[in-house]
Parts: sequence; C-alpha cells; structure tokens
Amino acid sequence: MLRATGRTRKLRLSALLLTLAAVAGALLFVELGFADGASAQLGPSTATRQVTPGVGNDAALWRAVHSGVSGWVSIPDRKAGLLIQPQGETWRAVRNGPLLHDGAYLLGAVVVALAIFFLWRGRIRVEDGFSGRTVTRFGPIERFAHWLIAVSFVVLGLTGLNITFGRHVLMPLIGQPTFAAVSLWAKYLHNFVAFAFIAGLVVVFVRWVTENIPDKYDAGWLLRGGGMFAKGVHPPAKKFNAGQKILFWLIVLGGGSLAASGLDLLFPFQLAMFSKTFVFLNLFGANLPTNLAPVHEMQLASIWHAILALLMIALILGHVYIGTLGMEGAFDAMGTGEVDVSWAREHHSVWAERQAARDSQPVIPLGGKESVTPAE
Ligand code: HEM
Repeated sequence: MLRATGRTRKLRLSALLLTLAAVAGALLFVELGFADGASAQLGPSTATRQVTPGVGNDAALWRAVHSGVSGWVSIPDRKAGLLIQPQGETWRAVRNGPLLHDGAYLLGAVVVALAIFFLWRGRIRVEDGFSGRTVTRFGPIERFAHWLIAVSFVVLGLTGLNITFGRHVLMPLIGQPTFAAVSLWAKYLHNFVAFAFIAGLVVVFVRWVTENIPDKYDAGWLLRGGGMFAKGVHPPAKKFNAGQKILFWLIVLGGGSLAASGLDLLFPFQLAMFSKTFVFLNLFGANLPTNLAPVHEMQLASIWHAILALLMIALILGHVYIGTLGMEGAFDAMGTGEVDVSWAREHHSVWAERQAARDSQPVIPLGGKESVTPAE
C-alpha cells in the first residue's frame, strides 16, 4: 500500500477545501440569485437551474417567472427573455369579455336609439319649404377631404369590426375557410386604408379648425338642444353649430389617437407610445407604469384602439343618420356642395346671412324683416 507523503496529504487537503468552497460559493450564489424571487435578471447560469427539477427553491423561481420577471437572453431579440407575461391574461379577458359584449351593446343601443328618435321626431323638414335658391356650403376640397375620411372610415370600421366580432358573427354564416380568406384581405385593406383616413383627417383639421372654435352662439344652441327636439326651434349658428363643433373635436382627437394607436399596432415594438404617454401623464400627477414590457405596450394599444374605434363608430352612426335620413336637405351640402337658402337660414342663420351679404343678396331672417346686415 502506498503511503501518502506529507506533501501529497497537504495537496489532497487543499483540493478538498477548494471543492467545498466552490460548492458553498455556488449554493450561496444560487440562493442570493433566486431565493426571494426578487432578481429581475435571470442570467445564463439559471438555465441549468431551470432545468434541474427538484433542486433547491424551484417554486420561488417559477413564482418570479409567473409574476412577469424578465430574464436575460443572448439572442438579439431581448423580448424572448420574458417567459410569462401575466398582463396577457388580463388583455385576453378584456378582449373576449367586456370589449366584445359591451361593444356590441353600445352599437346596438345607438341603432335602437336612432330608430326611436326617428319614430318620435320623424324627418326634420325644411319648415319654410325649399326656396329654389341655393348657396354654396362646401367647396371641392372640403367635400373631397370629407369623403376621403368618410369612405376610409367606413372601410376601416367594417374591416375592424370583422377583427373584433367576425369570428362570432361572420364565421358561422360563411364557414371557416371563406372567413379566413375574407379576414386576410380585410386585414390588408385595414392596414393600407388607414393612411387615407390619416390624410383626410389632416386636411379636414387644417381646413375647418378655425370654423370650429367655440363662439357666443354655442351655449344657446346647446341649451335649446339645437332645435332637434321641437318643431319651429332654430337657434342661430355660424357655419358650424355647437353640435358639429363637438363632433369635429371628437373626430380630430379620437381619430388622431385611433391613428396613433393603429400605427403602434402596425409597427409592432417600434414606437412604445403608451410608455411615452404615461411618462407625460405622470408629469401631471398620474402614477402610471412607464417601464412597460414591449408586449404589454402592444396589448394596451390593441385594447385602446378597439375601444376608441367602437366609440367613434357609435358617434358616426349618429352623424350619418342626421346627414341622410334625419334631416331634409342636409346631404346636399356634401353631395353637390350647394344647400337651399331656406335650409341654410333655419340651421345656420348667422352663416347664411353672412353669405348673403357677401353675395349682396338680402336674406329674410326667420320670422323677421328683410335684412342685409350680418347678424354680428
Ligand atoms: C359615410 C356617411 C357620411 C355621410 C352621409 C355624411 C354626411 C355629412 C354631411 C351631409 C355633412 C354636412 C353637414 C352640414 O352641412 O352642416 C357632413 C359634415 C361632416 N362630416 Fe360627414 N358624413 C359621413 C361620414 C363621415 C365620417 C365617417 C366622418 C369622420 C370620421 C365625417 C365627418 C364629418 C365632419 C367633421 C363634418 C363637418 C362637421 C359636421 O357637419 O358635422 N363624416 N357629413
């Protein structure tokens, strides 16, 4: 039997101590790294830890992963470091729950309300009867911009509704394969027509913004319900009445935000608009999270985009009703651009008198004497 010399014994002892130190160090590292689940970065060494069942504190590790802790990956796509994103569950629940149901109720309620209003009020007539004389209400650029946003909005609305409700409404009617093909093309259409809507929105904003600044007639118009609820009531208004101004600003702000969130969705993980918006809102005391995971950003954009779209569709249903069935003579304004002078006097008296003064044509104000003086 070979007897170890004193030197060999020392070497063996040193090796044993080193090994013990390495094991203790490794255990300490593992405990410090994961024991409380607070580590935000799961470094490469965790790969071994993750795939070693039953070793140490796996429960804490997975609790951390479940809570949305982001790990570290060596591939360029850093998003892959997030194994589980708990907000995804909330997004799914909202998307398949309230958004679907409340959205359908909202649109249904608007259609029913418009039908009841029509049955009760009937078509709002030109009470003085058509005069046969017309005045130019909208020029070619105004009408082009209007129909650009109108047509693109209808296309975006229908293709967008298909994204939200199509699976439940259209698919049972036309079958899965046809629905898949239709939805694919609808999605392409939705993506590209969005740019026409944005262009129309910009022109509409630039062309009409000055005429949509509140003025002294607005409060009176609103207090008298715009004359919508009783015959013979015609509150004065300039080119746009208070109701149209509210619609204008809702379209500009709502449409702008709809377009921004749509671009966020169209260029995934590039714009991070919600984080930036939250940083801005926090300046005013809001306490919103600003370090959003990229996929959380997309979920917020998707829900916000859908909610805004539903609200705007509800709004536009009312607008289309008034512009067609609800009010006699209104459609001509956007059709030919010319409206009957009686219509102009009843709905936009201040504007009508100004136009008449400009054209040197005396206009008889409602229930008054002939006048060539503008109302203000
Ligand atoms: C698709 C069917 C539509 C019809 C039949 C329609 C009809 C009309 C009419 C007749 C007017 C002129 C009202 C007046 O002379 O006082 C008007 C104005 C206007 N429309 Fe439309 N429109 C439609 C869709 C849209 C859409 C989708 C939008 C925006 C998303 C829109 C935005 C506006 C705005 C901002 C005005 C000026 C303010 C106002 O008159 O309310 N329209 N529309």
